[in-house]
Amino acid sequence: MTDTSGPNGTDSDPIEVRDLRADEIPQAVAVIARGMRDNPLHVAAYGPDPDRRLRCHGRLVGGMFGVSPAMRHICAIRNGAVVGLTGVAPVDTCRLSTGQKVRLLPALAALGPSAVAKVLSWTGTWSKHDPNEPHVHLGPLAVDAALQGRGIGSRIMREHCRRLDAAGESGYLETDKAANVAFYERFGYTVTAEAEVIGVPNWFMRRAART
Ligand SMILES: CC(C)(COP(=O)(O)OP(=O)(O)OC[C@H]1O[C@@H](n2cnc3c(N)ncnc32)[C@H](O)[C@@H]1OP(=O)(O)O)[C@@H](O)C(=O)NCCC(=O)NCCS
Repeated sequence: MTDTSGPNGTDSDPIEVRDLRADEIPQAVAVIARGMRDNPLHVAAYGPDPDRRLRCHGRLVGGMFGVSPAMRHICAIRNGAVVGLTGVAPVDTCRLSTGQKVRLLPALAALGPSAVAKVLSWTGTWSKHDPNEPHVHLGPLAVDAALQGRGIGSRIMREHCRRLDAAGESGYLETDKAANVAFYERFGYTVTAEAEVIGVPNWFMRRAART
């Protein structure tokens, strides 16, 4: 089902929220890299140079698209362009298999040794917190940098939660920004744990299954 009503806020251009198409993956990778460029984990992992952060995260996310065929992506489209999206790992698909990790190696290696070590520590800590209960794992979620705060992320989250509720599934995510905790709480997620990840405070959040 698609949502084609107008966006919240002052921008009157219509936004469509729907599944990402394969031909839109390059745009989606760029939106995630730009949208998350200044997130605290990215600064800690990739360093102080914003251009390097863009390049590094673009490579990593591009690699993840290639090795994660089970992953679903809900995107927001405005004037034919991807302006925001989230990855959604269906139940029992969020942990990478050994084969997937091996296929991700070229993308990881391109980050350089220091960033690789930090990304592995980051993802390793996240994995340790991953709930054992069946869950739909959200992330990454990003709205293009210039368009944040206009209701686009909320539109994507409403569609994600509608799908969770339709399937009676529970949701889970991690975030590295306090402002995002309040954002996700609006959609029924609650904090289950907090931990430092490569020196950055992180919050782990769960949304109980609803019938
Ligand atoms: C988090 C994010 C997806 C929210 O989407 P959005 O379209 O900006 O958010 P909306 O306009 O629908 O909702 C606004 C709320 O989002 C939260 N928010 C988080 N980061 C924000 C940002 N950079 N700009 C504006 N709002 C932000 C606030 O709670 C805000 O509520 P407020 O207006 O009452 O303060 C988006 O801001 C983003 O891409 N941020 C950078 C990347 C990121 O942190 N992704 C999530 C990783 S877990």
